[in-house]
Amino acid sequence: MTAFEPVLLANIANREGPTLRSYEATGGYEALREMLARHSPDHVKDLVRASGLRGRGGAGFPTGLKWTFLPQDHPGPVYFCLNADESEPGTFNNRVLMEGDPHQVLEGLILSCYATSATTAYIYLRYEYPLALRRMQAAIDECYAAGYLGRGILGTGFSLNVYLHRGAAAYVCGEETGLIESLEGKRAWPRIKPPFPAVEGVFRKPTVVNNVETMACVKQICRRGVDWFRSLGVPPDPNDPRDPGSLGPKLYCLSGHVERPGCYEAPLGLTVRALIEDFGGGVWKGRKAKAAIPGGISTGLLRSDEFDCRLDFTDPVRHGCLGLGTAAVVVLDETVSMVDFLHNSCQFFAHESCGQCTPCREGTTWALKMLRRIRAGRGRWKDLDLLLEIADSIGIIPGSTICGLADGAAWPIKNAIRKFRGEFEDTIRDSNPHGYGQTAPVPALDAVEST
Ligand SMILES: Cc1cc2nc3c(=O)[nH]c(=O)nc-3n(C[C@H](O)[C@H](O)[C@H](O)COP(=O)(O)O)c2cc1C
Ligand code: SF4
Repeated sequence: MTAFEPVLLANIANREGPTLRSYEATGGYEALREMLARHSPDHVKDLVRASGLRGRGGAGFPTGLKWTFLPQDHPGPVYFCLNADESEPGTFNNRVLMEGDPHQVLEGLILSCYATSATTAYIYLRYEYPLALRRMQAAIDECYAAGYLGRGILGTGFSLNVYLHRGAAAYVCGEETGLIESLEGKRAWPRIKPPFPAVEGVFRKPTVVNNVETMACVKQICRRGVDWFRSLGVPPDPNDPRDPGSLGPKLYCLSGHVERPGCYEAPLGLTVRALIEDFGGGVWKGRKAKAAIPGGISTGLLRSDEFDCRLDFTDPVRHGCLGLGTAAVVVLDETVSMVDFLHNSCQFFAHESCGQCTPCREGTTWALKMLRRIRAGRGRWKDLDLLLEIADSIGIIPGSTICGLADGAAWPIKNAIRKFRGEFEDTIRDSNPHGYGQTAPVPALDAVEST
C-alpha cells in the first residue's frame, strides 16, 4: 500500500464535529479568502482546467472544460447545481463528505461559483440523506452568518445564495437534466441534448452541474495547487493525445462481501485487488471472490481474474465495463448466483426507468421478465441471446435513448452473460431440463410474475 495521506477525508473524523470553527482551525476557507482577495474568476477557472480534474459523478468529463462552455458575458444569471442525488447502488462517498465535512464541499462550491460567475447555487440532495440534510443546512447557515455567503462575500463584489433542495427519491433525478427538471418542479424526465445545461439549464439559463466530490477536489486544488493534484493518479497516455489522464485523489466506496467495507481515499488508479485486499481486509469469511462491480452497478462486472484492473477513467473500459462510474466497488463472493445478481440489477433499472424512451422502458421491463422466468425454472436457451440483443440495443452508446440510465441497465446484462454464460446455461439446463431448448410459445408470464 502506498503512503498516501488522505486529503478529502482528512477532517471527516474531526472530534469537534463538522462545525465552521473546527473547519477554520484546519485552514478552512483560507483558499476562498485568497482567491477572492487576490485572483480573478478566470484564474480559478484556469487552475481547475490546468489540474486536469475530471468530474467524479460518473462520466469523468473534464471540469474546467465544462465551465468554458458557459456563454461569455451572459447578461442574465448563471446557475450552479450541486448534484448530491447519489443514487447509484453501492455509492456513498458524497454522503460521507456531506455528513463529515460539509464545509469542504461548500468551500469548493463557493469557489466554483466564483469561477463561473454563478450567483445562485442549488444543492439537489438525495431524499434518503436526512443527516446530510441537517449538516449541510447547518453549514450553509454558518456561512451566511460568517460572511462566506450572501451579498458582498468577504467584502468583495461577489455575491452568492445557496439553496438546499431535497429530492423525492428517484435514481433518474441524478441525471443532470432530470435533476434540472425536478428542480423546476416537474417530473424528472431527462431532456434531449443539445442544448446542454451550460447553454440552457435551470429556468432555461446557463447552468453548471457538478458532483459533490468534484467540489471537494476544487477546494483542494485551490488550496494545494495544480502540481500537487497532477502528482497523484495516472498521467495522460503520451501515445493518446485525447487522453487527459486520471489525476488527483479519489474516494473509493467498498461494500459487499469484504471484511472491512467503507469509504477509502487513494490516488486514482488503485487496482480493484489492492482496494479489496489492502483496504478492505480481503473477501469475507475466508471465501473467494467471484466478481466485483467496479464503479456502481451501472458499470457492469469484473471477473475475479480481472481484479488487476486499475480504477481510473480508462482501464475498466478495457475490461469490457462501461467506465469508472463512481468507483464504488461491490464484491460478490463465490456463493453468489449470477442469475440472482442479474435479476436484482434488472429489477432496479426496470423500476427506475422514467419511461420516456421506448427502448429503455420496454427493454428494461422485458429483460426483467426474462430473468424472472429463468429463475422460475422456465428459461429458454435462446433467452440469453435475446437478453444480449436487448442490452446491445438500448442506451446512448447505440444511440437509441435520451439518457445514460439505459446504458447502465445494459452493462450488467452484457457483462454477466458474456463473462458468466456457463452459469446461466447451467441454470436453464438444470431448472428446465425438458423445455430449455425450444419452449414455444413463450411461457405465460403471469404464472411466474409473483416469484
Ligand atoms: C441515470 C443517471 C444517474 C446519475 N446520477 C448521478 C448522481 O447521483 N450524482 C452525480 O453527481 N452524477 C450523476 N449522474 C451524472 C450526471 O448526469 C452528471 O454527469 C454529473 O452530475 C456531472 O458532475 P461531474 O462533472 O462533477 O461529475 C447520473 C447520470 C445518469 C445517466
Ligand atoms: S433512457 Fe430511460 S431513464 Fe433515460 S430518459 Fe430514456 S426512458 Fe428515461
